Amino acid sequence: MEPRPLQVFDQDFSMIIPPSRAAARLRKLIPFKPKFAIVLGSGFQNVSSDLKTETEIDYRQIPGFVTTGVAGHPGRLQAGYFGSVPVLLLCGRAHYYEGHSFETITFPVRVLAEYGIEQLLLTNAAGGINRRLRPGDFMAISDHINLMGDNPLRGVIAPGANNFVDLSAVYDSKLRQALVLAGKQAGVAVRTGVYVAVSGPTYETPAEIRAFARLGADAVGMSTVPEAIVARQCGLRVAALSCITNLAAGRNPHPLSHQDVIKTGKRAGVGVSRIIDSFLRITAETLL
Ligand code: HPA
Repeated sequence: MEPRPLQVFDQDFSMIIPPSRAAARLRKLIPFKPKFAIVLGSGFQNVSSDLKTETEIDYRQIPGFVTTGVAGHPGRLQAGYFGSVPVLLLCGRAHYYEGHSFETITFPVRVLAEYGIEQLLLTNAAGGINRRLRPGDFMAISDHINLMGDNPLRGVIAPGANNFVDLSAVYDSKLRQALVLAGKQAGVAVRTGVYVAVSGPTYETPAEIRAFARLGADAVGMSTVPEAIVARQCGLRVAALSCITNLAAGRNPHPLSHQDVIKTGKRAGVGVSRIIDSFLRITAETLL
């Protein structure tokens, strides 16, 4: 079978949208040019109130973006300054478990790359598998295990792109060190570890969690990996930060619920803003 072009549609499914078209919309609406973008996952939304926002764009105004129906994921892009660093904040992401294709959920990353973003921080909520990780802790992702059952590059060919992407260093080591240092400066422990991605939407069984632990995973979640893969294909430098919102199934005496995940994420939000603030300052000084 020949690979086919990306098929990401406009909101009314009337036409296929190339990332360049959505990027052109952003260029028109945003009067400055951030090189750094952050995707805010479940429970990380508080961070957006600490941005000095210059431009706010509803995802519905960006061709090819989808709004999300999941609590904790509003669907809005904010352009502004974190301290003195210009950034794009993507508040909310579409998930595979909502039924979207991998092409759709990774489209924003292609758009960011076209727009001129060079560094990307992906954030998410995750369940703690490693017993050292407790709810409210943070983990900078050092590597991942993709158990989502698919790959965002399978069967599609983006113009000029190589699909055989090297994944031996998906998460940039300098950015990861900056996250850990930012945690120290912010007084919040940021550990490092391996993230295993599953499709969801169910939480895992205790047997699955025991298996993932044996495979070398420290935390489990339902996002980030497809975006990180596409970001690497597009040549972006990637960092990823998990907020451990719960102990994974079987590690936890209580049943898991999405509401609890969101609640813990919100409580951790203050720490997140401090980490991100320091992280951007460190990266702006040393990397940009
Ligand atoms: N499992 C999968 N995804 C998650 C979890 C979990 O325990 N917590 C937050 N996202």
